[in-house]
Amino acid sequence: MADSEPKILISREAIEQKVAELAARISEDYKEAQPLLLVGVLKGSFIFLADLSRQLTIPHTVDFIAVSSYGNATKSTGEVRLLMDLRSTIAGKHVLVVEDIVDTGYTLEYLLRLLRARRPASLKACALVRKPDRRKVDVTLDYVGFDIPDKWVVGYGLDWGDRYRTLPYIGYVELAEES
Ligand code: IMP
Repeated sequence: MADSEPKILISREAIEQKVAELAARISEDYKEAQPLLLVGVLKGSFIFLADLSRQLTIPHTVDFIAVSSYGNATKSTGEVRLLMDLRSTIAGKHVLVVEDIVDTGYTLEYLLRLLRARRPASLKACALVRKPDRRKVDVTLDYVGFDIPDKWVVGYGLDWGDRYRTLPYIGYVELAEES
């Protein structure tokens, strides 16, 4: 259980600056790679995707996919389920998966395997936040915003039991030891 309000880990200003940097790199990297499709992973990536997408200077479309790996818990079960599929077909498109956070890596590994089988022209992944100490599977992230310590973070789309998603900063909650 979290006993207090989240403590700031990454400020709103630092997030804004990082999203602008990522958008500039992606716009440069994909200027010859069209059509570009951003795939947002629900629910956590919706704010990051909205901000990133609006800062890209190249044409692109947006679609969403939803998966579940944690239920309401804060520990990965390692078992990922597809809850909602894309609307669009991705064959022949340059696909960039936009994740809020990569923790163990199980979710991203599952998504990349699922999408690769549909034969996109290219497939890359971007995450705003990564927890390097928690990595369980070796999955390549092409764009990363911040590496953070092993804490449960909330805000800017990230939640704890569906709370705190709309905080403008990324903060962490102190969780009592789970059994
Ligand atoms: P992974 O499969 O362990 O890499 O977990 C990825 C998913 O777990 C993310 O897309 C988030 O939905 C959720 N998650 C992992 N760590 C956190 C956290 O610190 N705060 C909020 N959600 C998290």
